[in-house]
Amino acid sequence: MRRRAIERGDAIVRCLRYCARVPLFDARKRPLRNLRLSVTDRCNLRCQYCMPEEEYSWLPQSGVLTFEEVVRVLRIFLSLGVEKVRLTGGEPLLRRDVEQLVGMVAKLDGLRELAMTTNGVLLADKAVALRQQGLQRITVSLDTLDPSVFRSLSRRDDLHRVLVGIEAAQRAGFDELKLDTVVIAGVNDGEIASLLRYAIDRGAELRFIEYMDVGGATHWRKDAVVSRAQILATVERTFGKTEPIARDSAPAERFRLGNGATFGVIASVTQPFCSTCDRSRLTADGVWLKCLYATKGTHLRDLLRSDMRDEQIAARIRDEWTMREDRGAELRMAMPDRQPLAQRDELKKEPHLEMHTRGG
Ligand code: GTP
Ligand code: 5AD
Ligand code: SF4
Repeated sequence: MRRRAIERGDAIVRCLRYCARVPLFDARKRPLRNLRLSVTDRCNLRCQYCMPEEEYSWLPQSGVLTFEEVVRVLRIFLSLGVEKVRLTGGEPLLRRDVEQLVGMVAKLDGLRELAMTTNGVLLADKAVALRQQGLQRITVSLDTLDPSVFRSLSRRDDLHRVLVGIEAAQRAGFDELKLDTVVIAGVNDGEIASLLRYAIDRGAELRFIEYMDVGGATHWRKDAVVSRAQILATVERTFGKTEPIARDSAPAERFRLGNGATFGVIASVTQPFCSTCDRSRLTADGVWLKCLYATKGTHLRDLLRSDMRDEQIAARIRDEWTMREDRGAELRMAMPDRQPLAQRDELKKEPHLEMHTRGG
């Protein structure tokens, strides 16, 4: 009798901890708040900073999480304090019926924000459905406004489709649109002012991203990075003085121009922001990565496909986050002779190292 009461008490305590969304902090006192979920490793572009190779090792289709598995694992993450989910890829709009997944995720209790990062190529067709299904925010990658630069950067001729996709997203009601530009020396650094002008004219917020030495960026060289300082100097030459805006835990440092418009810089290389990083990533086949630069992850799919209960999986995630020490970008900044994170043969053997697998 007494043992049954104790067991029931234990179960209630476990349930309360699981349901009460007690904030979870890592070993450096950073909360688990943001989850970037890659829904496919496939992409319809081949951007030089992410997929410069001719051939790739793709994740086997049977290993990719089903929508039901995604929803289950997200419920578990939400119970642990995650409140913001971003769907990424590869290119997330290549995942069949992705708008249906958006609808399923948008209904989950505890979700404060549901966003997507896309290259925009298929956006014109999908924008209205995504909005109707409850997607709140979209970020589109836009590295150039020049069709020939787009062609050589992405090995596809799709700039027009991206620009039409951006317009369609705004018409569909995505009015807080963000645009992401990876700036590469000698490729698109001459377009900093024109890209910012394009964004301002459309009421979108553009963020310039320093070219990172992530997995997949096999052509990365230190001297191809255009630094935050160089980007700001270029912006100020055209638009005048920039005012910093108070910062939160997001990767982007935001600035205001004299005309009131805002833009951001993501200075992962020269000014990493690991000390406030509340993000983790889940690949399409369920590998959970606690850092963009992590070389190993936790295979949550195996747990989801075992007989483990949700609370047991939650306990595993909780334990791992509690021990998290990752600060990949800071450690890489300290390297004297910095090279790409992974070489081609390593990427072929372990596609989870690729940025397009772990989520851009
Ligand atoms: P919002 O604040 O919601 O706009 O999200 P976000 O800033 O994370 O937006 P987005 O997904 O567009 O991320 C922009 C880029 O920042 C990514 O494509 C990466 O290049 C970089 N980035 C995002 N998260 C991380 C991170 O955790 N670490 C590092 N080093 N870079 C990141
Ligand atoms: N450096 C910086 N950002 C990158 N992304 C992918 N690879 C890199 C890299 N090497 C991010 C960009 C891009 C998105 C798909 O992924 O933000 O827009
Ligand atoms: Fe977070 Fe790792 Fe990026 Fe640093 S490098 S901000 S710890 S994901």
